[in-house]
Amino acid sequence: CGIVGYIGHRDAYPIIIKGLQRLEYRGYDSAGVVLFDGDTMNLSKTKGKVEDLILKSKAEISTKGKLGIGHTRWATHGVPNDINAHPHCSNSGDLVIIHNGIIENYESIKKALAGRGYTFESDTDTEVLVNLIEEVKKKEGVKLGKAVQIALNQVVGAYAIAVFDKQKPDEIVVAKLGSPLAIGIGENEYFVASDASPFIEFTNNAVYLEDEEMAILRIGKEIKLRKIKNDKIAYPNILELQLNLEEIEKGGYDHFMLKEIYEQPRAILDTYRGRLLADQGIVKMAGIDQHLEKFLNANRIVIVACGTSWHAGLVAEYIFEDLARVPVEVEYASEFRYRNPVITDKDVLIAISQSGETADTLAAIKLAKEKGAFVFGVCNVVGSSIARATDAGAYTHAGPEIGVASTKAFTTQITVLTLIALKLAKEKGAFSESKFHEFLTELETIPSKVEKALESNPLIEIIADVYKDAPNCLYLGRGYNFPVALEGALKLKEISYIHAEGYPAAEMKHGPIALIDEQMPIVVIATKKGHYEKVVSNIQEIKSRKGKIIAVVTEGDSQVKDLADHVIEVPETLESLTPLLTTIPLQLLSYHIAVMRGCNVDQPRNLAKSVTVE
Ligand code: G6P
Repeated sequence: CGIVGYIGHRDAYPIIIKGLQRLEYRGYDSAGVVLFDGDTMNLSKTKGKVEDLILKSKAEISTKGKLGIGHTRWATHGVPNDINAHPHCSNSGDLVIIHNGIIENYESIKKALAGRGYTFESDTDTEVLVNLIEEVKKKEGVKLGKAVQIALNQVVGAYAIAVFDKQKPDEIVVAKLGSPLAIGIGENEYFVASDASPFIEFTNNAVYLEDEEMAILRIGKEIKLRKIKNDKIAYPNILELQLNLEEIEKGGYDHFMLKEIYEQPRAILDTYRGRLLADQGIVKMAGIDQHLEKFLNANRIVIVACGTSWHAGLVAEYIFEDLARVPVEVEYASEFRYRNPVITDKDVLIAISQSGETADTLAAIKLAKEKGAFVFGVCNVVGSSIARATDAGAYTHAGPEIGVASTKAFTTQITVLTLIALKLAKEKGAFSESKFHEFLTELETIPSKVEKALESNPLIEIIADVYKDAPNCLYLGRGYNFPVALEGALKLKEISYIHAEGYPAAEMKHGPIALIDEQMPIVVIATKKGHYEKVVSNIQEIKSRKGKIIAVVTEGDSQVKDLADHVIEVPETLESLTPLLTTIPLQLLSYHIAVMRGCNVDQPRNLAKSVTVE
């Protein structure tokens, strides 16, 4: 979920609405806003997107007021409907709250409150929390800040909350545990949000709350931070933001996803800029340089991640083992954290996460740290929870990724991981000087080769039109391109809702081959370097079952051209760098198919970009 709040001298409504739109990547199944106009509290909420909220709120409430909070939801407790949407009010109607996270012990608190006469309209854990705060406030006779603190000490779970009291409308109280919360500090005004994007045009000064911290944002007063557990004062670390507005807007593209696909040449370049110094023959990465011994002495590297980041981890497994000769295991963070893994201080754990907020990945990090492992983060969002929880790390520098389907985050993650593998390969002496140099110079050509791969866009649009109505699709690849096949299938299913599966090409014989008939499109990655002849044999096997073949091949290929129904060319490169190119046409293919099917490309149903619940 995404939360936004404002208190100050401006109209709160447009700030909150625009902010919610920027946070829709965090969930978009319902939305709501509440404003205090100096006299009354006006609340409007609805199932659906922020767009629906705009229509509804303009029709049913006064949108005046210099104080307000808003929410865009990704449902956990209770189906997405108008009543379960946030904000939620307390029984007296005085307190109002927005919440991102989960209160795990809400059932027992709800029962206790019901016993004291409280009633509940919704099925949410959040409505329970706001009433608990109200009960504490009444019973203890304390101010709102203190009541929030006492209440939070009774709950188990995760939260980023903002709450205010209409009887005392000069302050917003915010608190955080597990879910992110940023505070923007302007002149005589405060902004609250799940990330800084809702307030970057108003202020560059921000404070990111740490876990178990709360703050009181009072007009005319300096920000006050406290520890929730022990009431100690915490000192705000006011950061200067680097984000710019252009980066989070569509810039002429129809969708964020397309913009982000096209940003990849620049994003990859930004990722290795200042790190890859081919002329000096070095890779410079502070996070690795400072902890080189940890990496060199590691028994193995364990990679944890979710979704697309997990696929980047799989590509990294091939790269690390092939180049640096280090054993690697890749795990879903959600499995790792619950299966009592064997981890010691001889292991290095690499956590990969675009958002740096994925709850399972964060929990996996905590577990590995407890067991003594050295934990390294590969994140895109600067200052994110994972970036802060790790011992060291490297940012991908892809810029904000807004489209829910991850594109530039994936290729930049692979770029960072390749740099690390190259560095370790060199340090371990697994590479000759000349081979190392060949890799560095080749990596420098990747942005222009991605540019070239993007030139196939019109052809891919034609292919998309042929297969847009297919109910199923298979993606095959071998070696480095097996994870690319998985990622291609994920892209298609998440944004077009076509069922798709990725498979190692040879493994096709052991199951998926049974699905092949003349209706079935099969995307095969068949680049020259990378078991080419073997993949060609697999293509023959598909052809004899009359499957439709869309092949991604190396420029100038003729053999596959004769067999496949469609070929899409990518420039030639070193085998271990092919994923950076072969993934591009697969992103475009799923994009066009989704657009043609009328799907919401940037906000596919049921998904969220940042999954801060387990
Ligand atoms: C969600 C997103 C995916 C993403 C995954 C992991 O499921 O929809 O695009 O790959 O989370 O997110 P992370 O931010 O940790 O990379």
